Amino acid sequence: MSSPASPEEVAFGRSGSHWDAVPLDDAARRSTSAVGPWTETSGAATASSAYAIASSGLTKQFRSGQLAVDGVDLAVPAGCVYGFLGPNGSGKTTTIRMLLGLITPTSGSHAMLGFPMPGGLADALPRVGSLVEGPAFHPHLSGAENLARLDAADRTADRRTVDERIDAALDRVGLLAAADKHYRAYSLGMKQRLAIATSLLRRRELVILDEPTNGLDPQGTREVRALIRKIAADGTTVFVSSHLLAEVEQVCTHVGVMATGKLVFQGTLEQLRGGQPGRVLIRTPQPELAAKILGGLGLAGVQESGNEVSAELGDMRPEEVCERLVLGGVPVAGLETPRRSLEDEFVHLTGEGFDVG
Ligand SMILES: Nc1ncnc2c1ncn2[C@@H]1O[C@H](COP(=O)(O)OP(=O)(O)OP(=O)(O)O)[C@@H](O)[C@H]1O
Ligand SMILES: [Mg+2]
Repeated sequence: MSSPASPEEVAFGRSGSHWDAVPLDDAARRSTSAVGPWTETSGAATASSAYAIASSGLTKQFRSGQLAVDGVDLAVPAGCVYGFLGPNGSGKTTTIRMLLGLITPTSGSHAMLGFPMPGGLADALPRVGSLVEGPAFHPHLSGAENLARLDAADRTADRRTVDERIDAALDRVGLLAAADKHYRAYSLGMKQRLAIATSLLRRRELVILDEPTNGLDPQGTREVRALIRKIAADGTTVFVSSHLLAEVEQVCTHVGVMATGKLVFQGTLEQLRGGQPGRVLIRTPQPELAAKILGGLGLAGVQESGNEVSAELGDMRPEEVCERLVLGGVPVAGLETPRRSLEDEFVHLTGEGFDVG
């Protein structure tokens, strides 16, 4: 397979399909993207890429022996909102920490904004805002003062514009009115929004948020969603992790699904929705005969219930099933291939226990 010229050409696939479409030294460094050079980010390095994040075989095995991330090939198109989904313990945070250079991968490679890692970290990081493991805020300082402290720690930030930038970041997360309130007096939602504001202290090409809705009530979750939309509307790529499908489903254009360290699906939300019909359901006055024929066709999971029989379609086309039933003498009153809901699709991909609430 040749390398993709644009993210749309990537043949997103399910588990097992390896991302030969994402060679770092080609797609990731390609300069076809519309990601413009930010005026703020001076310096010679101007790598850009069709992919905001691309990884190949990214793997982390902890000293305990645990394989937390196992050969993950990410392809995050520039300009998208990418939902990085998976149950607790599936390896999302570990992946993000590797992406950001906080821990060293055991094997594999990756690039951010076209900069190969880890060599390009210094060039990439000023363009990347991130929220991982909540920043340490000082309870007795106001929101604005906390941001000023964090900004001061960023050696590449422009000191002259600090006040403007803090106001702009607070404004974007809806905390301008609470700028001078002590952090300890913030609600949980306000605290989380301040955390997101830290990733917005400068204009970013990529924002990586690890579970930004953690601990928020439905209202807070809605607010974070709206914020993600706002960030994305400026052309910033957003990579957001969650163990709750419902939290990110409404804002994502693309999704990656992790299960026990492996990326088991990657593609657009549409592709996930349009997954193959899982089962075929037949209505007939002769369910027993129908069940026998379906079994004879080699279909798995044959179930009978009243006048209905269903089975896993596998590779068989529904029209073929219908034909074989009719030829076998089964009067077919109705045949359906009910689509899996997005939620079902996730459970199917990640196994039971995935929190879809
Ligand atoms: N520093 C570490 N040392 C050993 N094992 C670790 C370490 N960090 C994470 N793990 C293990 O790696 C696995 C993946 O953890 P990780 O935090 O990446 O999952 P996650 O998908 O972010 O989960 P959650 O949704 O709960 O945040 C877990 O089994 C975890 O126990
Ligand atoms: Mg995590």
